[in-house]
Amino acid sequence: MSLATAPTFDKGLANTIAAETQMSFIDGGKGVLEYVGIDIDALARNSTFEETVYLLWNRRLPSRTELESFTADLRAEYELPGGMLDLISKLPRDATPMHALRTLVSALALHDAEADVEGAEANERKAIRLLAKTPALIANFDRFRKGKPFVASDTSLSMAANFLWMLNGAKPTDAVAKALDVCLILHADHGLNASTFAGRVTISTLSDLYSAIVTAIGTLKGPLHGGANEEVMIMLREIGAIEQVEPYIMARLKAKDRIMGFGHRVYKAYDPRATYLKTFAKQVATDTGNLSLYEMSRRIEEIMAREVAAKGIYPNVDFYSATTYHSIGIDLDLFTCMFAMSRIAGWAGHCIEQLDGNRLIRPAAAYVGPHGQPYVAMQER
Ligand code: CMC
Repeated sequence: MSLATAPTFDKGLANTIAAETQMSFIDGGKGVLEYVGIDIDALARNSTFEETVYLLWNRRLPSRTELESFTADLRAEYELPGGMLDLISKLPRDATPMHALRTLVSALALHDAEADVEGAEANERKAIRLLAKTPALIANFDRFRKGKPFVASDTSLSMAANFLWMLNGAKPTDAVAKALDVCLILHADHGLNASTFAGRVTISTLSDLYSAIVTAIGTLKGPLHGGANEEVMIMLREIGAIEQVEPYIMARLKAKDRIMGFGHRVYKAYDPRATYLKTFAKQVATDTGNLSLYEMSRRIEEIMAREVAAKGIYPNVDFYSATTYHSIGIDLDLFTCMFAMSRIAGWAGHCIEQLDGNRLIRPAAAYVGPHGQPYVAMQER
């Protein structure tokens, strides 16, 4: 780019294309999301998280043997390196899980001899380690804070089932493991969202993959991004009963508060991940005796459709994933960790893409302060 190109001010970067990707395509006006050209609905119905990650990282679906080999590579990395369990048991028990996760992912780098090794192949190995070990970090931190003994991973299980096994110390039913697997598929990648952008910025300085993923986790944590699913659950708890939905939502809209789980920077139509999750959450809620929560969510959606759909505000992925996570027994403050566990696939894929033809990401700021100010000596201020 020539130096003469005049930079434009684009608050929130909503109208800026800052990277190229071959992983996910979003048409926000039509409510379309594809991973490598495959509609998200087809993947949620037919794929598995492992296969979806292969698709994102290799830009094609695997053959049976390729998928078996990739799955074996992931399972071989389920276990945590020595020292990580000690570290988990030294964290404050009341630490917020996202703070714990960010700290623990950062510490994983200390146990990886390849942490600073550059090159696509080393990064792919690190991506597998990060993705495969994160479930053990989350599950074992949760066990530690509840005073329960650690549970070793089970390499005969999928990532979703193994996570639930470690979390609960019991094998999940197929339906519950499938519910988590679907949520992992739906959250795996989403264009240049805030956390992915943050990760790409970090890797564009030629820092390492662990640092980039830690950056991304910190960014995901915010309530305008991945933290929204926890806020949705908090809201459902505050509402308490279906009769309270209308007065609660109307009061919040009147106060110009945001209703968490609604609206999206890119989608001005129904978020296609929410389309799938809405039907799916109903099934999971029915099977697990949580239908009242689902019905409250539906009522919120009806009121929001009446009040703000004209502004292009519809439920996003976080809205029905909150009900789904709750229904399968995941604690409220772990919801954003579930998002992170899946999105590592997207973050790592984007970082590797960024490094292929990397250019430092360094936008400009418009200086709006004063000029020509005198330096006033301390005693004269
Ligand atoms: N509830 C009520 N009004 C809303 C909401 C909402 N959730 N979201 C946007 N609006 C209104 C906003 O008040 C504004 O109205 P007006 O034009 O009258 O001032 C208008 O819609 C446009 O809002 P905006 O802030 O310019 O939109 P944005 O693109 O900057 O914000 C957002 C996108 C996701 C930050 C926002 O919709 C929001 O805060 N939603 C709630 C948080 C949430 O659910 N986040 C999860 C996003 S999906 C998962 C992920 O990718 O992380």
